[in-house]
Amino acid sequence: MNISVIYPQSKIEWNWNSALLIPIYENHLPVECSLLTEEQELAIQAMIDRDLFHGKENEILFVPFINASFAGTILVGLGPQDKIELEKVRRISAKVTECTKTNRIQMLICDWEQMRTEYIIPFIEGVMLSQYVFEQYKNSDTIHKDKPTQLTHIKFIVSKDKDISDLQNQSNQTVIICNAVSMARSLICSPANELTPQSFADIAQDICQKIQVKTQILNKGLLEEKGLNSILAVGKGSKREPLLLILEYNTKSAIEKPVALIGKGVTFDTGGICLKPRDDMQDMRYDMSGAGVVLGTVCTLAELKADVSVVGVIPLVENMPGGSALLPGDIIKTYSGKTVEVLNTDAEGRLILADAISYVQKNYSPSRIVDIATLTGGCIIALGHFSAGLISNNGDLSNELIKAGQETGERLWKLPLWEDYDKLIQSDFADIANIGPKSEASTIVGGVFLKQFVVNNIPWAHIDIAGTAWGVKHIPYWDSKYPTGFGIRLLTHWILRNCKQI
Ligand code: BES
Ligand code: MN
Ligand code: ZN
Repeated sequence: MNISVIYPQSKIEWNWNSALLIPIYENHLPVECSLLTEEQELAIQAMIDRDLFHGKENEILFVPFINASFAGTILVGLGPQDKIELEKVRRISAKVTECTKTNRIQMLICDWEQMRTEYIIPFIEGVMLSQYVFEQYKNSDTIHKDKPTQLTHIKFIVSKDKDISDLQNQSNQTVIICNAVSMARSLICSPANELTPQSFADIAQDICQKIQVKTQILNKGLLEEKGLNSILAVGKGSKREPLLLILEYNTKSAIEKPVALIGKGVTFDTGGICLKPRDDMQDMRYDMSGAGVVLGTVCTLAELKADVSVVGVIPLVENMPGGSALLPGDIIKTYSGKTVEVLNTDAEGRLILADAISYVQKNYSPSRIVDIATLTGGCIIALGHFSAGLISNNGDLSNELIKAGQETGERLWKLPLWEDYDKLIQSDFADIANIGPKSEASTIVGGVFLKQFVVNNIPWAHIDIAGTAWGVKHIPYWDSKYPTGFGIRLLTHWILRNCKQI
């Protein structure tokens, strides 16, 4: 995506794959724009007179021009001016890409003189997120011959009193972030025969080599040596060996302790011996969404050369019911020393995260820990696909994350962590059990389990993205058949705002 921010007098090279976009608040008519000829304004007015456009939210009108150097004008309605907000702009821009797709527009010139410049970022986000496709495994003759046009260039015309170099920088950053989101979405969407623990690590190493991110891989042998038994236990049933991938950005030069991000990387979750039902089991390849999000976030921060210190910890396993698989009733001595009775092999995410949490605390003494995981089906029952679940031992940290999520449109809803819930994971035979009774408060129980591995009360938050990582309907910039990469924009935003080195 090529973005530029320009002043009204700059020369524009129009072509007939380009269109002029004019965003309009409700009832802020007639349309006036210095780039239009009188004749073109009349053509637009004629359509408005026929009641085809009022500026209502999400209204779109394409007015084609003949005898012009460009294809036409797209009017997009923003709704009432006092009700506009970042998320609305994101959704509205996805409506614009629908229109540019059907009209084969590749370049948009946006008349942004009347618009607040803070809406440039969500506009770019909405365009980039909505245009994402995953076609890696289709031959070109399978991909529809009439391949839809993608928008590749956007120019924003802003008024002369604006600082365009600052706006250009912000736009470039947004493109970097959205590219990382696309990269993660493709990893998450990849089938489990291609994306194994090892190939995820290889791809990550490849990406990280090009930027300032140091990688380290603890293979099965090293996991055994160090006693990361909980990760090993989940990986036992699969021929594809488990590993722990560590990403370090700026951890050495750090003045402050690093922020730790931990992502669940189950490349496929069959449930193990407690096998899942076959319906829609293919979806369980997205059980490494948290891993994709952590990789995407660390890479983004490095590409932005952000003045922060971050360590990403990604346990990667395949949860299989093999001949040597973990069995119900097995007791694991985790890396922390705590013993866990495995009452359900399908509650595997928390097992691998537990060791990752202990490992990062022991080896990096982080200032805060955020883990992100497709942890519980119960989270979809509680919150649907419109919000992720948040569990935390720290009020400030939760508030910072919730605020970041409101700004990026990746909403979080906090669930309680009262001590009473600790009783749900009592075990008759080990220190704790990996599940609670039936599906009682299952999302909270997931968090309560993880909390047992956080020492010295260091600020920690757990984000359950089971509902938001994939299958999001009714939000225009998401296509429900694709993963979302939910969390990358949120975590990047949070770290840039709240975890900068002083
Ligand atoms: N990866 C699943 C969570 C999940 C399930 C996400 C369905 C999306 C849709 C996780 O590993 C899991 O299986 N969790 C169990 C936990 C239960 C056994 C306590 C669940 O939620 O059913
Ligand atoms: Mn599971
Ligand atoms: Zn899982």
